[in-house]
This record gives sequence, C-alpha cells and structure tokens, in this order.
Amino acid sequence: MGTAKKFYQLSWANRLTTLIDQGIITPAQAKILKQQANNQLLGDQQIENYLTDYHLPQGVAWHYLIDGQQYLAPMVTEEPSVIAASSHGAGLIAQSGGFKTKIGPHILWGQIILEQITNQQQLKQQLLTQKPQLLAVADQAHPSLKKRGGGTRLLRVRSLNDQLLSIDLGIDTQAAMGANMVNSMLEAVAKYLRQQLGSQVLMSILSNLADECLATATCQLPVELLTKGSFSGRQTAKKIALAAHVAQIDPYRAATHNKGIMNGVDAVTIAMGNDWRAIESAAHAYAARDGQYRGLSHWSLSADQQFLQGELTLPLPVGFVGGSIKIVPLVQLNQQLAQIKEVSDLEKLLVCVGLAQNLAALLALVTEGIQRGHMQLQLRSTALAAGAKITEVAEVVQQLQAQGQTDLTSAQLILQKIRKNGDHNDRI
Ligand code: MEV
Repeated sequence: MGTAKKFYQLSWANRLTTLIDQGIITPAQAKILKQQANNQLLGDQQIENYLTDYHLPQGVAWHYLIDGQQYLAPMVTEEPSVIAASSHGAGLIAQSGGFKTKIGPHILWGQIILEQITNQQQLKQQLLTQKPQLLAVADQAHPSLKKRGGGTRLLRVRSLNDQLLSIDLGIDTQAAMGANMVNSMLEAVAKYLRQQLGSQVLMSILSNLADECLATATCQLPVELLTKGSFSGRQTAKKIALAAHVAQIDPYRAATHNKGIMNGVDAVTIAMGNDWRAIESAAHAYAARDGQYRGLSHWSLSADQQFLQGELTLPLPVGFVGGSIKIVPLVQLNQQLAQIKEVSDLEKLLVCVGLAQNLAALLALVTEGIQRGHMQLQLRSTALAAGAKITEVAEVVQQLQAQGQTDLTSAQLILQKIRKNGDHNDRI
C-alpha cells in the first residue's frame, strides 16, 4: 500500500508502458513517442514527465544585412509563409543599404513586493537610504555575475497602492537571460528586508517588462523598390505608413500587426534556445506601455517622399549562454549558422527579423492581399491535413488552385478522386 511510484518517478520506458496499461495510448502510439524521442536522457534532465520530443520544422531566412554585416536567421516555425516573408522583407531592406541597429544595456528588472505597509513615505525613505546595502546584498547572492562585469545597476521604489510597494532592482545579466540569477538575488534581498527591517514581503520575482533591455532597428527604402502591380512605389509606401498608423490607433489591428512581427521574432528565439514566452510577454507589455495597446513598429515617408522609413524597438531579454543553450547541440549550431557571437548580435538579429517580417506583411496586405503569397504554402498544408502522401501533395495543390475552392473538404474530395483514378489506372 502506498508504494506505487508517482508518474514522474517512473523510468521513461515505464511511463510509456503505464500510459498503454491505462488504455490512454495504444502500443503503436507508444512506438511513435519512442521514435520521436531525440535523446531520452537529455529530455529527462530538461523537464518532468518527459515522453518524447515534439518536432517543429527549422529553416533559415537569408539577406539579413545588419550594420554592414551579413547574418542568417535560423527559424523554427510551423507557419508556412513566415520564412519566405522574412527573406523577402530582409532582401528589400538589404537592397536599400540594410538595417541599422541600436542596442541598449542588458538590464532585467526584478520586483520585491512589500505588503501591509502602514507608513509608506517613511518606508520609501528608509529603503532609499539603504540602497547601497540592498544592492550589495543582491550582488553577494551572485558574486560571479559581478566578476563578469554584471550585477545590480538600478533600484527604484514604486507605490502600487497605499498598502503595496514594489522595490525594483535593475540587474545587468551580461550574456545570460538571467531569470534564475535575478530571482536568487531578489530572494536574498527579500530575506534581508524581512530580517533587518521587519518588512512583510509578499513575493519576489523578475519582471518580464524588460524596458531597460531595448533593441532598435531602423531601415530606409527608396519608394521605387515598393512598386507592386498597378501601385506605384510611392503609393505603396504611403499605404504601408497608413497601415502602421492604424496599428497605433486601433488595438484590434495592433494585435495582428504585432503578431506578424512576433512570427519572425519567436521563430528565431526558439531556434536560439531562448524562452519565447518571456519575449512575447515583454513585447506585448511594452506595446501597452502608455496604457493603450499599440503597434510596435513605425513606418513613415521621408519629408521628400523618396523613402519609406521603418523603425522597431523591442524589449529583448535574451541569452547567449545559460538555460538550455549549452545542453541542446542544435542551439549552438544555430548560433554558428546565424553568425552571431554575443548576446548583442542576437538582439540585433531579432529586432531586424521583426522589422523585416512586418514590412513583408504590410507590403502584401496593402497591395495584393495576404492570401496570394500564403496560398501556395497554405495549400500544401491543407493537402497534408487532408491525408495526402508527400507524392500526392503537388497534384492536390494544383487541383485545389484550379477549382478555386481551397478548403479541407475539397482537398479530401480531390484526394479521393486522385486515388480512385490511380487505382483504375493501375488496373488498366
Ligand atoms: C499572419 O500570421 C501575420 C499577419 O496577419 C501579420 C499582419 O497582419 O500584419 C499577416
């Protein structure tokens, strides 16, 4: 009694057997989980209750000319058109001299929330007088960071309401994303506050609103490059600027505008072994920093109307070392593939990918519409979803295009017909 092991205590093989025994999966499905498992030992170290590896396609986008240097953008994504759009946007910008970037400090905020405050002014004053001690306590909790040139840089105290204060510590995490470092430094300070000042600490945790870790990319394209179909380059440029303005004034559009930016940013973030949820959260919180959710990028025409100018600023609390970066071999390969050598290179690449992705989306949206460019790739996914084998995909796509109806049911019907004809032909 009571000796049965918990699921997480079972070996990997026994976990799969348990799922079969409980009738949750079939032996054939367990075989799939086994086949898809890259490295069971590594998986077991990385997460709890490891079963298998979930594979996503990885490709690479070309034409990233950033501050005069060429980069490649390895991208992990299941969305068909992301890489094509990325290379297209980057290619247009490369023809116009490439991206220019500005990378700020690599400072993450951490918060210690104090509760049950009776005299807020007095406590605020006390905390500010103690600033050198608080910074020292934080740095002592991670001495190696200071040795590497990082450590605490900023301290501010914010009133959240009359009962709650946030002590914000700004920590330079150097080449690491640094979530664990920041959290242990915060907990050391929280302990000091409890013991030395008798403060009531509600919690301490890093903040994903990394507005002291900003990267900016700009570009400038001659309008002639944007000539598309019946639209002159200047017309297209004006429409792109207007579309970006819509994202400034309408949160419904801003959400989609920013989703397009993050299509590329997430894909590279994943390829680089980073926490893409942190980057997503940072981007969207930053997009709402003045109280209204807005588009993250800006596009405008130069005063002489000869150039379309683009600008994107993103909070990018990414890491070049630490986390899963060292233990997942593909991530190191991707760093090499991308030609990046330090964390600021990664920030540069990410913010430029966001801007290129946004340009490609807006250009398509205000001219031919998004579906045309998406279609070829999208139809392949529809054909596969309908059950087409790789050898059947091209024909299904061709027939879907020819008949103009491109939904899943149409793909299934086409597939049935192809197979029926195939059988018939086989018999002849
Ligand atoms: C689709 O994944 C992304 C777009 O909707 C972005 C946008 O509308 O700007 C095309």
